[in-house]
Amino acid sequence: MKRPYVFCHMLISIDGKIMGNYMDTPQGIKAGDIFYDIAFGKKPYYHHQGWLSGRVTTDDNFTFYKKPQLDENAPQVPEGDYIADDQAKMYYVSIDPKGRLGWEDSTLVYEDTKAHVIEILTDKASNAYKALLRKRHISYMIVGEDAIDFEVMLEKLKENFHIETLMLGGGGVLNWSFIQQGLCDEVSLVVASAADGSDQTPTLFEMREKYSDDTPVEFVLKEAKVIDENALWLRYKVKEVKRHE
Ligand SMILES: NC(=O)c1ccc[n+]([C@@H]2O[C@H](COP(=O)([O-])OP(=O)(O)OC[C@H]3O[C@@H](n4cnc5c(N)ncnc54)[C@H](OP(=O)(O)O)[C@@H]3O)[C@@H](O)[C@H]2O)c1
Repeated sequence: MKRPYVFCHMLISIDGKIMGNYMDTPQGIKAGDIFYDIAFGKKPYYHHQGWLSGRVTTDDNFTFYKKPQLDENAPQVPEGDYIADDQAKMYYVSIDPKGRLGWEDSTLVYEDTKAHVIEILTDKASNAYKALLRKRHISYMIVGEDAIDFEVMLEKLKENFHIETLMLGGGGVLNWSFIQQGLCDEVSLVVASAADGSDQTPTLFEMREKYSDDTPVEFVLKEAKVIDENALWLRYKVKEVKRHE
């Protein structure tokens, strides 16, 4: 395969929500720990070299909606991609088409996992933004004019950063884009035995007209396990997407 193997790994409530108050219940916290251990723990099930998230997920968890400190007079940066570190043990691949995220460092720490940041941009990202990333030694790749070409992005991640297995880590908009484009091989769900009934929180898969539609997709169940009495771990293969004519 020219691209990495892609698995989508998510924590959900029993009604399929990827965030909300249910996460603060004892069952939600327990399921959160199980979720982390499967992908990042001391004896993980998956052995990936990077994980990928949408802009909203990154702002919620790592950049906290800070505005990037741009120098509009920065000298013109060289054309093309910028690879600051191709030897990291783990990468965080950040989907940020227009270059909006206020990164302050080239590495992030998620619980006890350290990762080098790779920004995925389009031609819409400004020279000032790219100059800022270079100043902070944050890698970036430009993959598309207006929209990100995910197939090309995956091939470049394998070629430039040696990523053989990649975790697709949400949110729902990004997950559905990948599944619809046939770029996600497996879905791994940790189902917390909790719910909160909110109508304000996103679900596991979210269609956005700009990026995807509601063509249905089927899955093949590979494994279902009860963990710690109440949580479920479900693994599915994604079936080929059949488009409407
Ligand atoms: N429970 C879990 O396991 C889990 C895991 C991850 C995230 N989360 C939660 O999920 C929430 C966010 O989910 P979300 O679905 O609202 O947002 P998201 O997928 O994190 O981010 C959406 C944004 O990413 C960019 N994007 C997404 N798909 C794209 C595509 N096909 N092409 C180009 N850009 C694309 C766009 O950025 P622009 O707007 O800049 O164009 C889009 O607005 C967060 O609150 C996070 O904490 C939960």
